[in-house]
Amino acid sequence: MKVCVIGTGYVGLVTGVCLAEIGHDVICVDKDEKKISSLKKGQVSIFEEGLEELVRKNIDSGKLIFNSDTAQGVKEGEIIFICVGTPPLPSGKPNLTAIDDVARMIGKSLNGYKIILNKSTVPIGTAKRIKKIIKENQDQDNVSYKFDIVSNPEFLKEGEAVKDAFFPERIVIGSNSEKAIDIMKKLYGPIINQDFDYAKNNINKKQKVPILITDSTSSELIKYASNAFLATKISFVNEIANICERIGANILDVTYGMGLDERIGSRFMKAGIGWGGSCFPKDVRALAYTAEEYGSQASILNAVIHVNNQQRFKIIQKAMDLLGIIDDKAIGVLGLSFKPNTNDTREAPSITIANKFLELGAEVRVYDPIVKDYPDNLDKGAIFAKDPYEALKGADLMVLVTEWDEFLDLDFERIKSLLISPNIIDGRNFLDKEKLQDIGFKYVGIGN
Ligand code: UGA
Repeated sequence: MKVCVIGTGYVGLVTGVCLAEIGHDVICVDKDEKKISSLKKGQVSIFEEGLEELVRKNIDSGKLIFNSDTAQGVKEGEIIFICVGTPPLPSGKPNLTAIDDVARMIGKSLNGYKIILNKSTVPIGTAKRIKKIIKENQDQDNVSYKFDIVSNPEFLKEGEAVKDAFFPERIVIGSNSEKAIDIMKKLYGPIINQDFDYAKNNINKKQKVPILITDSTSSELIKYASNAFLATKISFVNEIANICERIGANILDVTYGMGLDERIGSRFMKAGIGWGGSCFPKDVRALAYTAEEYGSQASILNAVIHVNNQQRFKIIQKAMDLLGIIDDKAIGVLGLSFKPNTNDTREAPSITIANKFLELGAEVRVYDPIVKDYPDNLDKGAIFAKDPYEALKGADLMVLVTEWDEFLDLDFERIKSLLISPNIIDGRNFLDKEKLQDIGFKYVGIGN
């Protein structure tokens, strides 16, 4: 099938490349000409395992092309994926400007029956909104062309996006058009049946991927409710971790014991400094906003946000407990990305923590295996170190913020000799507490 993907961010690019790899002809468009020109050369600016190779492979085979002309892409595609951003406004309400612009463009460019498919995480009711805007923008030359809107949320995790695209846990299709649903089943056929070259001998290959057909509003809510539930799980566990600290229990044993109950499960039960990234913060706020907009209380969602906002400041409190006054102390912060295996620092706890230490007068050295430039919002007073040892030389405290694997292999004897005082705060309960204590560190975790 001929597919046009509008927007080449995480979702758009991964979706486009995945559809090309399973055999469709994909044109990815983005109004950012610089980005398109890099992508045409096979250069991918986001860090995602396996993505760049797949982009290059599919450019070479002619299955994947890039273009900065959205109207052209819409004209060529039979199925149009909307994968543009919906950043939050200060109120928590998602900003739909990019979606609206794209819908107007689609209305003007329709040249036959098309399926307009929304993959961006959008507020409840956006499918109906897009339909209205497209209709309003059809003119007398193309007003006779019909189209169907489909809500098809994505569930990719950053850092595992390629795997999640090929081997998803479910495909959700929200539409009331039988014709569109049939076409979607064909489009995703190779994924549903796990029958495509990339799946052969891949350990992640599934037997079959479940496909759920529902109305567009329920489909939109499935996405928000899933992210909000996962965020709730983490905030809940963090609250229990805080109770553990007060009563002298160990969160690692507590979550292990809870997770053995299959109804609870052991995944997404890691206590730490809370969730960040481009999805959970935005989506939980948006769902709370929608609930209140429709006169429904968002008591749990608001509490989940509140617990998460507090959690990153636990690191500051723990640092104060260890060091007393923070002013003039040197602190090495390891990890900037909001989680490992991505270079994304959006709403990362690292930024809040580093900025707060700077505000309190500390010298802050930061190190991340991949993030090498100042992320937005990180105070320029932070000093980038070339490696973890440089970040920790002469420091009073090491703070582990992101659980990158390479931090497990650090030479902690060397770190002990570099630090002025052997203090470690492990914001992810990631390091070997006993080993570090044997070496002579004062180790402080979360809830243990
Ligand atoms: C999340 C969802 O997991 C995806 O299913 C969804 O498609 C995506 O949002 C989206 O809406 O696009 P992502 O933001 O990439 O994916 O990251 P996660 O791996 O879910 O982690 C989110 C945050 O939770 C991170 O800050 C992570 O450190 C934190 N986390 C995760 C914990 O603190 N504890 C855990 O046990 C798990």
